[in-house]
Amino acid sequence: MSSALLSAASLPRIAVLGAGHVGPVIARVAIEAGYQVSIAASGDPDRIALITQVLVPGAAPRWAADAVADSDIVVLAIPLHKFAALDPGLVADKLVIDTMNYWPPVDGVREMFEDRRYGSSEIVAHRLDRSRVVKSLNHIGYHELDVDRRPVSSPQRRALGVAGDDPDAVDAVADVIERIGYDTVQLDSLRAGRQLEPGGPVFGLSLRRTDFELAVRPQAA
Ligand SMILES: NC(=O)c1ccc[n+]([C@@H]2O[C@H](COP(=O)([O-])OP(=O)(O)OC[C@H]3O[C@@H](n4cnc5c(N)ncnc54)[C@H](OP(=O)(O)O)[C@@H]3O)[C@@H](O)[C@H]2O)c1
Repeated sequence: MSSALLSAASLPRIAVLGAGHVGPVIARVAIEAGYQVSIAASGDPDRIALITQVLVPGAAPRWAADAVADSDIVVLAIPLHKFAALDPGLVADKLVIDTMNYWPPVDGVREMFEDRRYGSSEIVAHRLDRSRVVKSLNHIGYHELDVDRRPVSSPQRRALGVAGDDPDAVDAVADVIERIGYDTVQLDSLRAGRQLEPGGPVFGLSLRRTDFELAVRPQAA
């Protein structure tokens, strides 16, 4: 067995829910980082077979329930207006990466996400109360996610935020992001993860780690 296969077997298996703009890119960069990845949309995997073959070679298109059952990490890459229809039981006991943003122009006004005392991932985590939810990958565009990857040694390596309430889950997700090709800045709660949201200080910005740290922790400067 090659060392690549040995390393793939030791990495967590990833299920990406969502096969629109960002889901296939997340699946592809994860595969290229050595992960075993499956991808699902809301229905029959036959409907995403061609997209998967073209955009995510090496990924398995599956029914969502099957993809999740055989995974260690589930990436939620669906529009937030579809989130209310997602059965929390589907991802119970899983580590969930929440990449979703609340965009009223796209999602419509959603009562569930209108309470601005809470970040969207706090609300997601409240509903997915049997999952460990980590917020990441929401603040980088899908095209950038592909082209901004750099090796560890690169001075141009971009930083991405990873926020969550469970330190082990945050570490696990940070490891995925770093293997994909990004530095990480960890935020120790989903509440702090509001910094990563649209309108926040790092949303859509390409920042090196030091500048990212300064942007999310200005009080530490
Ligand atoms: N676009 C970006 O650059 C970007 C970057 C970072 C984060 N995000 C966030 O990622 C999320 C998705 O954005 P997008 O632009 O990729 O959306 P999109 O192009 O509209 O794709 C939506 C995908 O979600 C699938 N889906 C809906 N409900 C599902 C369910 N219950 N289970 C599995 N799949 C389901 C859809 O499948 P069907 O067609 O079968 O319904 C479709 O494949 C949003 O919350 C967005 O804020 C986007």
